[in-house]
Amino acid sequence: MELNIAVLPGDGIGPEIIEQAVKVTDAVCTKFGHQIHYEYGLVGADAIDKTGNPYPEETHELCMRSDAVLFGAIGHPKYDNDPSAKIRPEQGLLAMRKKLGLYANIRPTSTFKSLVSRSPLKTELVDGADFVTIRELTGGIYFGEPRGKTEDGQKAFDTCIYTVEEIERIARLAFEYAQNRNKKLCAVDKANILATSRLWRSTIQDMASDYPDVELEFLYVDAAAMRIIQWPKGFDVIVTENLFGDILTDEASVITGSLGMSPSASIGIHTSVFEPIHGSYPQAAGKNIANPNGTILSAAMMFEYAFNLKEEAEAIKVAVDKSLAEGVVTEDIAEGGIKPGTTSEIGDWIASQI
Ligand code: IPM
Ligand code: MN
Repeated sequence: MELNIAVLPGDGIGPEIIEQAVKVTDAVCTKFGHQIHYEYGLVGADAIDKTGNPYPEETHELCMRSDAVLFGAIGHPKYDNDPSAKIRPEQGLLAMRKKLGLYANIRPTSTFKSLVSRSPLKTELVDGADFVTIRELTGGIYFGEPRGKTEDGQKAFDTCIYTVEEIERIARLAFEYAQNRNKKLCAVDKANILATSRLWRSTIQDMASDYPDVELEFLYVDAAAMRIIQWPKGFDVIVTENLFGDILTDEASVITGSLGMSPSASIGIHTSVFEPIHGSYPQAAGKNIANPNGTILSAAMMFEYAFNLKEEAEAIKVAVDKSLAEGVVTEDIAEGGIKPGTTSEIGDWIASQI
């Protein structure tokens, strides 16, 4: 198969972790006989510095003509510490999601045998936990208008909006996802307070009869946050709106032992984007210490979701599992006297296994 990939390294540790995912992707293509072409593009703070725009039109065109996008990370401390900055790197990510129509963000939470001891949760709670969060990605309070600050600077506001159409589109995907897993869907909202959440709840209730084989439950987001640490094994598929999904998936990722291990796929209308769920980790930028596995596993999701190449995806997952089992890991997950490897050593090792 011929694969055309847009590569957007972005900020902070983005370039170094992306380099490892590219290595591993190359190894897979060599092994399975695929032809791969990469084209690199600018995004985030890096793009602001070079073009003034965190998601330049050129980058968008590149994404549109590619079969898939591999994305590193976005964000820079100079913006985090300056809330008055008008142009911000994160706007690049949001613009990309919106313009590519990426309404669904799929974030798996799976535990790795050799990492369960690193989880902040007791082993018996977390061992075997395996669920997927389907986060709505192009609506809600992230995008609603009006938003802003009054002229006197004394008041600020954001708007949360959802339409039935947006809810149905993400819920359909989640129901189908559940049908292909353990047939349990948990819809997370705050319907006791928010009008948008009540629309989510009634819309999903109306759809339930089309999926009689899926066991549907509703949870308020506060209760869901609690349940994720109390009994994560109780979840199969979670569907939720943009902001709740953002928060819950960070929570969910640490129970696996490291935020650095979690991949994601954003899919929708145009080209799909594959990126780790962690941020740009600026303190580690250029030090060759960041965990590349979230990005490498995002490449695995790319093979599966963008190209339906399941064996290729599996080859990556097996190699990552093996690296964990053999202690070929970065410092965030090295323990018990294991000498941590560098970012590039981990990438080399995993590629060589493939
Ligand atoms: C994520 C990130 C982004 C989000 C930021 C960087 C805009 O936290 O992908 O989860 O909030 O969606
Ligand atoms: Mn987030």
